Amino acid sequence: MPRTHQAAWDRLAHVAVLDLPRLNGDSSTVVDPTVELDVDEVFGRRAPLVVEIGSGSGDALVTGATEHPDWDFLALEVWRPGIGHTLAKMSSATGGEALPNVRFVEVDAEVALRTLLAAGSVHEVWTFFPDPWPKQRHHKRRIVDAGFAGTVLRLLEPGGTWRLATDWAEYARSMREVLDAHDGLRLVSTDRAPLRPMTRFERRGIEEGRPITDLAYVRD
Ligand SMILES: C[S@@+](CC[C@H](N)C(=O)[O-])C[C@H]1O[C@@H](n2cnc3c(N)ncnc32)[C@H](O)[C@@H]1O
Repeated sequence: MPRTHQAAWDRLAHVAVLDLPRLNGDSSTVVDPTVELDVDEVFGRRAPLVVEIGSGSGDALVTGATEHPDWDFLALEVWRPGIGHTLAKMSSATGGEALPNVRFVEVDAEVALRTLLAAGSVHEVWTFFPDPWPKQRHHKRRIVDAGFAGTVLRLLEPGGTWRLATDWAEYARSMREVLDAHDGLRLVSTDRAPLRPMTRFERRGIEEGRPITDLAYVRD
């Protein structure tokens, strides 16, 4: 991690990054499946919850949490330097503090979301620019598939929204195929997600001539 990100991590991780029990030791990214998070206790209030999967360097997270102090944000990210970078951004935005409505868990979201949160407890799920795994033989590593759609559907409150974005047209097609076929999810918009800022992944996609697709599915 660059020095400023590490410094932000050292100062703020103990308040912003949840220390959850894990399977296979402290450095594992697999959360103990018997643990269900008490979100109201974590944030000290009850508010609409946004779960961001793969928050990266945190642009969407910091924008969303700043624009919506009345919502809570839980970011799942396996890449610690990304969390450090996000903490540094939060610190710049607040003058040195963590944002009170943001928490991180450093875990594999695909596994954790099966058990970590109560069914129907999430207002929005964000999956912006998930790793595209463009080679055919790697497609099975993509996070958005039928099994994961079932996981997300279980989490969403009725009327809750799953927002996705990608710069890979073929991944976008596969997302639509999988999610359109999923009972209980309905495509409601292909407009840019309201709180999604430009990130380096979107910029690189545009520079390399890849169109950006946004999808918003609602739980019926
Ligand atoms: C291409 S980046 C996009 C980051 C961010 N959403 C953005 O738009 O700038 C994908 C991120 O997802 C994270 N990621 C990939 N698989 C994950 C998983 N199973 N659980 C949690 N995070 C994951 C990666 O570490 C990476 O930071």
